[in-house]
Amino acid sequence: MRRRNRPAGCACARAAGVSSMDDAAIARAVHVAAVVIWIGGVAMATTVVLPLVRRKGQPVEKRLVLFEAVERRFVWQARTAVVLVGLSGFYMVDRYDLWSRFAAITFWWMHAMVAVWLIFTLLLFVIEPFILHGRVHSRALSGDESVFTRLHRAHWALLILSVVTVLAAVAGSHGAVLAP
Ligand code: HEM
Repeated sequence: MRRRNRPAGCACARAAGVSSMDDAAIARAVHVAAVVIWIGGVAMATTVVLPLVRRKGQPVEKRLVLFEAVERRFVWQARTAVVLVGLSGFYMVDRYDLWSRFAAITFWWMHAMVAVWLIFTLLLFVIEPFILHGRVHSRALSGDESVFTRLHRAHWALLILSVVTVLAAVAGSHGAVLAP
């Protein structure tokens, strides 16, 4: 991991000619706080809730009730966080004029952020409410527990992708060059 000299697209406050606690600094704070709540929740679901739901000690109906109760409460937190991350993220891109980064492979972590955001937006606003919710419910009640296994694997994949993106975004936005 090398340090880069600040390029034209530098997003530091001084380079943008703004004071240290300005609108873009607030956008960054909102961005990071929303990421923490959202990805933290995904980590909790993946490492705590889903392993409990998959444990065969209790009848499947009871485990489904637990799963749906957690999901119902968390989904609105996640949706709100995803909206805040998108708004604050694009606000920073525009405020610091970082659009050219999307044309450079060095900034692959910018593409990764937008990709993770798009995947979750689709999942939380379209796939989960209109397809997945009913499917998981009916499959689990019909005794097909493999639906929980697949759900758990998908959560692991999303969690790993999100954590890699967070690591790269923090390193990249603090000057590290993450390209070969
Ligand atoms: C629409 C989607 C998104 C956009 C447009 C966006 C945009 C940005 C921008 C412009 C920055 C500042 C870069 C810099 O200072 O050089 C940033 C920082 C960051 N973003 Fe995103 N982002 C998005 C989604 C995400 C997602 C989904 C995650 C987490 C998985 C994420 C995590 C972070 C982190 C951890 C930072 C570093 C903050 C810091 O250390 O100062 N972003 N993002």
